Amino acid sequence: MDTNIDSETGKFSKVNKIDVNPKIWSDDLQVGDAAIDHQHQEVFLLTQLLDKAVRDNSLIENILTFLVTYTNEHFKDEENLMDRHGFLEIDEHKEAHELFKVTVFKLKSDYESSPNQAGKLIFPIRKLIDEIIDHIIHVDYKLKALRLNEINPS
Ligand SMILES: [Fe+2]
Ligand SMILES: [Fe+2]
Repeated sequence: MDTNIDSETGKFSKVNKIDVNPKIWSDDLQVGDAAIDHQHQEVFLLTQLLDKAVRDNSLIENILTFLVTYTNEHFKDEENLMDRHGFLEIDEHKEAHELFKVTVFKLKSDYESSPNQAGKLIFPIRKLIDEIIDHIIHVDYKLKALRLNEINPS
């Protein structure tokens, strides 16, 4: 299993669908946009890397780099998809994304101000990832309807 994040790009070097924890990831969560579905699976994979980071704090910096990249690129991709389709709940959805970005920025700056205290960030990072997964399950899931409309316009 490859759960390594490239420290420069902040992306997983490889994601194999089989590696994603089957207990929590389900294909039902797919919204039908390949890029977005791939990005969502990466978050599930991130929980496994965080488990490793408990024993190896050196992984925390890469996890934070991933989260910075994720909150910039993935949220933008999703918002573009919603814009293209005139998604009604776009404002609330964007607001949720902004709150995640604020949390990631805070965690990253906490890490940078005292990298030797990185272990203390495990719990707040876990909480953030759980919240992002909750967002995927309960909010992003609604994007599936957009793709269905595209395939079968009424
Ligand atoms: Fe998402
Ligand atoms: Fe979202």
